[in-house]
Amino acid sequence: MIYVDGLTKTFGGFAAVDGLTFQVKDGEIFGLLGPNGAGKTTTIRMLACLISKTSGDARIDDFSISNKEDSFKIRSIIGLVAENVGLYEELSAYKNIDFYGKLYGIPENQRKENTKHLLEELGLWGVKDRPVGTFSKGMKQKVAIARALSHDPKILFLDEPTANLDPEAAKVVRDSILNLKNEGKTIIVNTHNLDEAQRICNTIGILKTKLIAIGSPEHLKESLQSDKTVIDLEEVTDRIVAAIKAVSSAQFEIDGRRLVIYVKDPQTENPVLIKAITSVGGNVIAVSQVSPTMEEVYLKAVREKR
Ligand SMILES: Nc1ncnc2c1ncn2[C@@H]1O[C@H](COP(=O)(O)OP(=O)(O)O)[C@@H](O)[C@H]1O
Ligand SMILES: [Mg+2]
Repeated sequence: MIYVDGLTKTFGGFAAVDGLTFQVKDGEIFGLLGPNGAGKTTTIRMLACLISKTSGDARIDDFSISNKEDSFKIRSIIGLVAENVGLYEELSAYKNIDFYGKLYGIPENQRKENTKHLLEELGLWGVKDRPVGTFSKGMKQKVAIARALSHDPKILFLDEPTANLDPEAAKVVRDSILNLKNEGKTIIVNTHNLDEAQRICNTIGILKTKLIAIGSPEHLKESLQSDKTVIDLEEVTDRIVAAIKAVSSAQFEIDGRRLVIYVKDPQTENPVLIKAITSVGGNVIAVSQVSPTMEEVYLKAVREKR
């Protein structure tokens, strides 16, 4: 388990990460989703014990990032794929991974086994002897992931793992991430890509210096944005608008002869709205219900916290 409790980082009085609290269960993928500058990288660097926190704490299993001795233990059970870290382009995929295992002091026999397993797992066994410099971006990113796993950590931090990849390569990397989860790894992935977060994460935290929302993709959609009731009328009159305001405090927009009303519970609110409209002589032509997309949910959350 990863327990993050009020984790805060300030750079010279400026808060880059402010009071994050969340947990990640074993075997889950947790996504930190947020725009550039939201504090995603800073958060992951604190969790990986690469930079110190300003206040708050995080525990990874039984180890605290606040404790110097624990930080060594934390480093041994986590793997990190940072943004833009280079591989040794002239070395083969195999050697890139093996070299990292050596740095971690993994004995040769075990290294052999791990490296083979990782290369197979990530679909790179067939190209293991090719210099990484000849690989596509997607393949390189997979080597970077394999390298971060060379000491067989149970937890993996991925900082924008698909940021510079074309859609096809991004999918290959996402599939690999899901495979690793199925193998039992616990993963925190930073992304500014909403679609990606939605596809692979069990839980998403929307970050903008503070954690502004957290939950499963479905939960976020439900809790953050109301449904839209779209009512087409023969005519939108002032009397109709007044009648709606009298029975409902829901936000609404007028778009020509169309009313778009942001309701929380269509089942109970729609009949009241329709009744109010017809009671002042409004002619309803059509009523429809539109659920928000995840993108609307995200944009709304991020905008509201500006
Ligand atoms: N070493 C640093 N010194 C000063 N400010 C920093 C440092 N690292 C990050 N920041 C600032 O902290 C904020 C969050 O940055 P970062 O964590 O990199 O965001 P993200 O990864 O979400 O794009 C940004 O405003 C960034 O400029
Ligand atoms: Mg970043």
